[in-house]
Amino acid sequence: MQKLEVFGANRLKGKIKISGSKNASLPILAATLLSDRKIHLKNIPKVKDIETMISLLQSLGSKTKFINNNLIIHNSKQNKQFASYSLVKTMRAGILVLGPLLAKFGNAKVSLPGGCAIGTRPIDIHLNGLSKLGVKYKIIQGYVYATAPKGLIGSKIRFPKISVGATENLIIAACLAKGTTILNNCAIEPEIKDVVNFLIKLGCNIKWIAKRSIKIVGVNKIKEISYSVMFDRIEAGTYLVAGAVTEGNLKIKNIVPKIIQTEINTLRKIGAKIITKKNEVQIIGNKKIKSINIKTAPYPGFPTDLQAQIMVLLCKANKRSLIKEDIFENRFMHVAELNRMGAQISIDGNKALVYGNIKFAAAELMATDLRASVSLILAALTTKGKSVINRIYHLDRGYEDLEKKLKKVGANIKRIN
Ligand code: EPZ
Repeated sequence: MQKLEVFGANRLKGKIKISGSKNASLPILAATLLSDRKIHLKNIPKVKDIETMISLLQSLGSKTKFINNNLIIHNSKQNKQFASYSLVKTMRAGILVLGPLLAKFGNAKVSLPGGCAIGTRPIDIHLNGLSKLGVKYKIIQGYVYATAPKGLIGSKIRFPKISVGATENLIIAACLAKGTTILNNCAIEPEIKDVVNFLIKLGCNIKWIAKRSIKIVGVNKIKEISYSVMFDRIEAGTYLVAGAVTEGNLKIKNIVPKIIQTEINTLRKIGAKIITKKNEVQIIGNKKIKSINIKTAPYPGFPTDLQAQIMVLLCKANKRSLIKEDIFENRFMHVAELNRMGAQISIDGNKALVYGNIKFAAAELMATDLRASVSLILAALTTKGKSVINRIYHLDRGYEDLEKKLKKVGANIKRIN
């Protein structure tokens, strides 16, 4: 199994180009199932989760070609409706093929995603929403057997809880439903807006009618299009924290600053100097880091996907900080590893009390999930000596060219086979 060696402590200086968004690409790839025309997607990041989703589409009969972040998908011969456990278990977003398969074929057999390090990852909101569009389903031996005997019928649905994946699954499914669907209490992450923009370009009839409400009128004509996916705002936020925690000076490029305004405001409150330009954010780290209390929330709140990263920065604050994880039930797997590096973080349910004035010490570490892994690298960049991070396949799921991008701005990091 591969691991990463990180030799700190280096101040990161220079430019980092942000890749396309993993969490916009995954639902957009699933949504291509609505079409049997050729679709050209640009700015698709070369990361493991994308490769897994491509394998899933191939297993459904899609023809794909993925070269230099350009992905051509041709679904003219896509005729299968079975998404296997072997693919869905490693990447929960595989459940996003359920909506489009039902919309296109009126039936699907998709593996339940199963839990992961950060939580049980249920899909009850997805299934209840789909049943309101006329879907009948049974769960047998870990698979969802779903059918829509009369095709999908538009309906008015209110999500009981804000869910990114359920919002995406229902929007995509409703595109080919008969009649009009209104979805209320939607998640409004930028990635969802990107999926909607893609679907509209595909020829779907979709309109946001209120902040968290959307109206979809079913269509039966889908165009052949090309579409460029938005930037990865979590990758951007991760490198902004890297600049702050190493007291460096980084220019993060190919981004839209207003989309990460919450993160920028938070980092400014913590004491970092941030200069924003049209497609770039520059961060200049500050020796003095101020403590701050943070609560993760659905967009436009502070993203749960940046909670582990900001926790590392707050370990270096002048006083203690409180972090409340309000999205996932078990997203503090990085805490034990950070404490092994000298952090003093105590957990009480979904709250983490983060003591400040910590000097991390290099250590041998274990990655547990995608965002926890990168937080260990951030901590390792601030310490003298060699840290080793094991199980870095977690990292490869969501960060394109991570070592290359960090090396280019002065990090001493290498992958050991
Ligand atoms: C998406 O996951 C992202 N993944 C996650 O990013 C992100 O952390 C999460 O949204 C929250 O922003 C992708 O976009 C591929 P949810 P998703 O449905 O859709 C509960 C990363 O690191 N829930 O908004 O699975 C759920 O258990 C990943 O890139 C139900 O109870 O998130 C969680 O507690 C990690 N029933 C909460 O809602 C359901 O049917 C939010 O989940 C669905 C969700």
